[in-house]
Amino acid sequence: MGRVAYVNGRFARHAEAAVHIEDRGYQFSDGIYEVWAVFDGKLVDSAGHFARLKRSLDELRIAQPMSEAALRIVLAQMVRKNRVRDGMLYLQVTRGVAPRDHPFPVPAPAPAVVITAKSVDHAAAEARAAVGAAVITVPENRWGRCDIKTVGLLPNVLAKQAAREAGAVEAWFVDDLGLVTEGASSNAWIVDQSGALRTRDIQANILRGVTRSRLLALAAELGLPLEERPFTPDEAKLAKEAFITGAGTLVLPIVRIDDSKVGDGIPGPMAKRLRRLYIDHARREADVQ
Ligand SMILES: Cc1ncc(COP(=O)(O)O)c(C=O)c1O
Repeated sequence: MGRVAYVNGRFARHAEAAVHIEDRGYQFSDGIYEVWAVFDGKLVDSAGHFARLKRSLDELRIAQPMSEAALRIVLAQMVRKNRVRDGMLYLQVTRGVAPRDHPFPVPAPAPAVVITAKSVDHAAAEARAAVGAAVITVPENRWGRCDIKTVGLLPNVLAKQAAREAGAVEAWFVDDLGLVTEGASSNAWIVDQSGALRTRDIQANILRGVTRSRLLALAAELGLPLEERPFTPDEAKLAKEAFITGAGTLVLPIVRIDDSKVGDGIPGPMAKRLRRLYIDHARREADVQ
């Protein structure tokens, strides 16, 4: 069997896996998702992702579709069935299938669960990280609950497309105060002029990145200067270094913001060190929480 997806309790061939046309995720974006990096066949920072999954569901009052223990078994099966050594697991839970009507359906349908797995070529990712990437800045236009990892991602889609058309990999949202919130699918960081690591605080309207939290903890262990404090695009352009974090990008050096080179226009020593640190952690600690 080739690539396999999980849909509502069944494994299906990826190419044929499908959900109902009245799935509320499809009609209203009434659902959430979670993404785990997989290293050596095991989940990275799994506890943080499970905790955020539960929180996203609770915030939207969608029932937990299964226990964490059961979900761990299904995720492990997906890793095995798809022969993933290094890769990504994507889980989506929607409020389920019901005749189209905005309020929550009564009685509540069973939440709909979809899981996909894919392999990632870490050597290629490493080569990209060695060169560094570009970001653009775009006005923040998302809703006020970016702390929920909802599948409603249209502003993120449009921002990413603008980035792609500008030859960049990511778009950083800039809020009404002129401060960077985060990327369309990653958290934003700089190494400021004083050498401190800076990333937006989680009181702001951002997703609480699991990679972000882990990297803060790893950097704190090393005694690196850290500040959960916002920065402007201009501060970022004048920063010593910049980078992004996420389960997909891990730690990716940013060498250009809009039309400005960051530092010397090559990945900086801190971003490279933190990428190594996070990947070492991922290989060592995968599924050990
Ligand atoms: C908007 C946004 N911010 C931040 C992140 C990074 O979160 P994590 O490190 O948990 O993958 C993501 C990941 O998808 C995201 O979509």
